[in-house]
Amino acid sequence: MRLIFLGPPGAGKGTQAKLLTERYGIPQLSTGDMLRAAVAQATEVGKRAKAVMDAGQLVSDEIVNEIVSDRIDAPDCAKGFILDGYPRTVPQAKALDRMLEEKGLKLDAVIELKVDEAALVRRMENRVAETIAAGGSVRSDDNPEAFKRRLTEYREKTAPLSEYYAGTGQLKAVDGMADVDTVTAEIEKILA
Ligand code: AP5
Repeated sequence: MRLIFLGPPGAGKGTQAKLLTERYGIPQLSTGDMLRAAVAQATEVGKRAKAVMDAGQLVSDEIVNEIVSDRIDAPDCAKGFILDGYPRTVPQAKALDRMLEEKGLKLDAVIELKVDEAALVRRMENRVAETIAAGGSVRSDDNPEAFKRRLTEYREKTAPLSEYYAGTGQLKAVDGMADVDTVTAEIEKILA
């Protein structure tokens, strides 16, 4: 099973990807998590990505395409994977098409989580409050200014992917405003 989760920041891509990982026994490939790990380890990629991510902007296509291509080759992806937060631009989607073709792989579905913008801001605020309550460190891009920029980047660069995948016949939309379990059930219906 090879899936893509599309949706704005805070739509629930990571939440749903984690749940499906357990259900299908395939890994969640979150480019956001991979980049945050690179930043934490101060790798070359991490050093280049940090300021861009902190500002809520997208990291270059070249960096993320390479990260994903390498990750897909890992043995734990042999049965499939869930792409969470990639692709995020039309050039990334085209690069993924080429990558999969070269590796002889096919996508099964592209699932778009649809959530109102006001709810996204509330979810980000909740995540910050929960992280602080649990004694964790708040993401450096979970603040009003960076979040606003993340939403703008989404509208301008990522939203066109809905049309791209509608064109390939792979797009399935799910109401991401419902509670977590209902969203999971809707996704499982699509995948059944
Ligand atoms: P990334 O880490 O991918 O962040 P994001 O897309 O902005 O998404 P989030 O992690 O904020 O949200 P999510 O949709 O996963 O929601 P979640 O499940 O956490 O990217 C971060 C940065 O990395 C980017 O800005 C960019 O700089 C860079 N980057 C990453 N990929 C890139 C790429 N391909 N190209 C270029 N740059 C890239 O849920 C959010 C909250 O809501 C949680 O608290 C959760 O508990 C709650 N929640 C979830 N579902 C529900 C529900 N149904 N009802 C109520 N609450 C819910």
